[in-house]
Amino acid sequence: MDPILNSKIGVEEWERKQQETGIFGQSHGIRQLLETIEQVGPTELSVLITGESGTGKELVAKAIHNASSRQNHTLVSVNCGAIPEGIIESELFGHEKGSFTGAVGGRKGYFELADRGSIFLDEIGELPLPTQVKLLRVLEAREFMRVGGVETVQVDVRFIAATNKDLETEVQKGHFRQDLYYRLNALHIQVPALRERPEDIPILVQKFAIDFSRNQHIEFEGFAENAFALMRSYHWPGNIRELKNLVEKVIVLEKGQRISADRLRPHLPIASVSSHLPLVVNKSKDEVEREFIFRILLEIKSEIAQLRDMLAASNPQYSVPAWRELAPIPFNDATAEAEINAGEGSVAEMERQLIQETLMKTNGNKRRAARLLGLSERTLYRKIKRYGLGGLNEI
Ligand SMILES: Nc1ncnc2c1ncn2[C@@H]1O[C@H](COP(=O)(O)OP(=O)(O)OP(=O)(O)O)[C@@H](O)[C@H]1O
Ligand SMILES: [Mg+2]
Repeated sequence: MDPILNSKIGVEEWERKQQETGIFGQSHGIRQLLETIEQVGPTELSVLITGESGTGKELVAKAIHNASSRQNHTLVSVNCGAIPEGIIESELFGHEKGSFTGAVGGRKGYFELADRGSIFLDEIGELPLPTQVKLLRVLEAREFMRVGGVETVQVDVRFIAATNKDLETEVQKGHFRQDLYYRLNALHIQVPALRERPEDIPILVQKFAIDFSRNQHIEFEGFAENAFALMRSYHWPGNIRELKNLVEKVIVLEKGQRISADRLRPHLPIASVSSHLPLVVNKSKDEVEREFIFRILLEIKSEIAQLRDMLAASNPQYSVPAWRELAPIPFNDATAEAEINAGEGSVAEMERQLIQETLMKTNGNKRRAARLLGLSERTLYRKIKRYGLGGLNEI
């Protein structure tokens, strides 16, 4: 039976909810999600949203704010992973004039800007431990002091946080404070991964295809049933963001023609099309070799990152941020360093290429790229700047 007709609410009501929130789908998971948003939105409860990258956590945060009585006030979104550690507290809590070099005037932080509205702390798992302590105080008392300030500032703010990390594991590793985790976890919304709800694929594809072809004025013939079957069997590591990018890419590259499985397959990453499907390799030998080496490098990187985490967990003496950043290699020999950093084939050049290719693979999504590379998002931002890769923006 049609799951929409089977639901307690009518089709029109369902359509309205999807349009209002921008959250489309007909699976049980999405229906539950929309119901939870409706129940939780109007309350003052703090909410923790978890889910893999690209599952729609930001959409959920916006929908909660819009379903609350704060909807006419600001929703301030903060990406905790992208702000350098040194300035994170002044960004969040503001600072007083002269509180540090360069603080020529006082400035409001995000919490003050969100007064009477909501604050969305995205990637909360990336928050440094000392800032987590301060955040807990704000959560409990709704008050704080600006950096360099002596007076308490009070705010009326609703908390919404999100992460694609498993915070419980982060607590065990000593990366995340347990008290803050319990406080945040009081109301937890888990957004399901796309591979867990493949029945949503047709509705999402249709929405993205219609929006895109309309905006770009491209006539589009639609997708064949075997293309949907292929999409249902793919594991979607980048979730809905990846699906949206794929739909837009094939509409452009296949020039609006009807998309069959054969037309679609070359646009899916080579190794990720489910192993029981015939693998059509329409790439040159060089490209295949390159991808192979690239994948091995990624695996090595992620193993190094895991080893680092294990070491940090087993020896709490090591400061976590230092372990989580790629430590620069100490060089005494200037010639060796120059060689490593010079030209084609150098370590720096290989790293630059690896980052560039990863960013291309993730369509410029820095968070996914950082995860694939086993780097913190902050380190990736630094390296992007260093290698002048800033032009690879997310599409
Ligand atoms: N259910 C959905 N219906 C329609 N569009 C969706 C849905 N879920 C996500 N999207 C779209 O997918 C993209 C990614 O969503 P969003 O940024 O909310 O993901 P996220 O979970 O915050 O990802 P990340 O962890 O990488 O920050 C956005 O363009 C969003 O509009
Ligand atoms: Mg997000």
